[in-house]
Amino acid sequence: MSIDLTDPSTAGGVDPELAAFIEGLPKAELHVHLEGTLEPELKMALAERNGIELPEKTVEEIRATYRLESLTAFLTIYYPAMRVLVTADDFHDLALAYLTKARSQGVVHAEMFFDPQAHTSRGVPFDTVISGYRRACITAERELGMTTRLIMCFLRDMQPEYAMATLMEALPYKEWIIAVGLDSDERDNPPSKFAEVFARARQEGFLVTSHCDIDQPGSIDHIRQALHDIGVDRIDHGTNIVEDPTLVDLARQRGIGFTCCPISNEFVTGDMKAGPISDLLRSGVRVTCNSDDPSYFGTYITENFLALAGAADLSTSEVLQLARNAFEVAWLSPTQRDVHLATLDAYAAERGVSLPT
Ligand code: ADE
Ligand code: ZN
Repeated sequence: MSIDLTDPSTAGGVDPELAAFIEGLPKAELHVHLEGTLEPELKMALAERNGIELPEKTVEEIRATYRLESLTAFLTIYYPAMRVLVTADDFHDLALAYLTKARSQGVVHAEMFFDPQAHTSRGVPFDTVISGYRRACITAERELGMTTRLIMCFLRDMQPEYAMATLMEALPYKEWIIAVGLDSDERDNPPSKFAEVFARARQEGFLVTSHCDIDQPGSIDHIRQALHDIGVDRIDHGTNIVEDPTLVDLARQRGIGFTCCPISNEFVTGDMKAGPISDLLRSGVRVTCNSDDPSYFGTYITENFLALAGAADLSTSEVLQLARNAFEVAWLSPTQRDVHLATLDAYAAERGVSLPT
């Protein structure tokens, strides 16, 4: 599915004034996988640069492989695509291309996941990965005027011992990594499998998040574990929480952020989950709107806001709340948060938009 912003059915059918408000909104992106930003054009260029032969001969052929209808199907395309990433320059170019695109959509703060094990497991050193990504962050901060953070994810379908070894490998680079998370295939891989790794990460000063993907077997148990046993600071996706009102209350009390990705939801479950997302938003839970794997889903953050606003019939005030939530739950310093919130509030005030009452 690709979103055509001029087509009311895919631009979410939002009125032009709301669409313009969304396009210009200063945004924080809190759920994007750097490896999921690999556009077919860059994949082709990196394959050439590294002398890697791809089965696909054109950008269109690569794009045609970006087809998926479940999380598992998606992941079987996703990991092999990464073999074109070899040098620190490759990781740098990937991240900077994403940050440049995101900035063009109003993103002023980006927190980006990366999967070191998807690279170390094929012989690319951890240092190569993190050095390339870090250099792109520095460039974006200097030249694009953004703030950025990196979140290191463990692959939950691999052994906890490998996650722990990866955590140990990351310690010398602690200053460059704000948090650890959990991604990849959730089936039979609950957060509790990584309890020790998370506890050690916390001891080392990392913040903690976890994917709780949509409609997985055991989704609600995984959310419960993440909140009660792991003590996460945020949850990625996680809207199955609506199945348990007690957990919703707990998340609201703790101010837990939920990094939702409506178009990703549509791809992997056939449903954007606009209902649960907007119910949570309207009940004061800090849900946010993000892009997940934008090159695979053909859409970045603005299209996600548009799609959700249309599907959930969000008011301009609710869209503002959604954008504000992201800055509130972002892992920013107090000063940086104040600066971003002031920019957002000024943008809204200039347009006569206030938060929902
Ligand atoms: N890795 C990249 N995208 C993911 C997603 N949506 N869920 C789990 N793991 C992922
Ligand atoms: Zn994700």
